[in-house]
Amino acid sequence: MRLDRFVSMAAGIARRETAAWIRDGRVQVQGREVRNARMQVAASGEEVRLDGELLRAPGHVNLMMNKPAGCISATTSHEHETVIDHVPAALYHPKLAPVGRLDKDTTGLMLLTTDGGLSHRITHPKRKVAKVYRATLKGPLEPDAAARFAAGIVLADGTVCREAGLETMSPEQVRVVLTEGRFHQVKRMLGRVGGHVIALHREQIGPLALDPSLALGAVRPVTDAELRALIDALAANAETGVAPEPASEVPA
Ligand code: URA
Repeated sequence: MRLDRFVSMAAGIARRETAAWIRDGRVQVQGREVRNARMQVAASGEEVRLDGELLRAPGHVNLMMNKPAGCISATTSHEHETVIDHVPAALYHPKLAPVGRLDKDTTGLMLLTTDGGLSHRITHPKRKVAKVYRATLKGPLEPDAAARFAAGIVLADGTVCREAGLETMSPEQVRVVLTEGRFHQVKRMLGRVGGHVIALHREQIGPLALDPSLALGAVRPVTDAELRALIDALAANAETGVAPEPASEVPA
């Protein structure tokens, strides 16, 4: 792999910027300053440093997106804009795919990854990864809605949902916590307790919370600390089957 690509992927920075850093002498390979962006690295595990800081060899690409309404959770489409269309060229990888699905009109946290194993572990119902949604409603829910969510809502087609969290934030806004991911599940569950969803936004997947500084449509790499927390939570879920607590903060 070319040195500018290695630095770009490892640091999550656009390639033209890393090429400039290399020209400026900020990158060292095996302890030696290298100003040739085309130099091949990583094949034999060279140590690459940026301003003296060791860069981790780029492996899988994991990105966090604040999904806007109007794009679909797919990699390609002839008809619709996809979540992948929002990935800037500097972060793009041909194997990137969304982890699970959000409806076209749903906004908020979407994880994109090249790591099929990670994606499978997050979406597998057995892992019971908590997904937190904020729903804006046309009007208030029936008074026993939270108790019915806790007991397990039965959908119109007879599907029995797992117990789920429902917190009322205002008469027209609720937070829903699910540990499974059925088609239109939040909208269908809220429909059973008198709710009509006019906007739906995902705030969190397990311990991974949407970065409040990400504007709609913006994408950034998942940090090492975020990835570590997610992987640790998945491992804990596998051992205990217990979903992690969602954060109580509402992103702005
Ligand atoms: N539930 C829904 O109804 N829609 C989504 O996009 C996600 C969960």
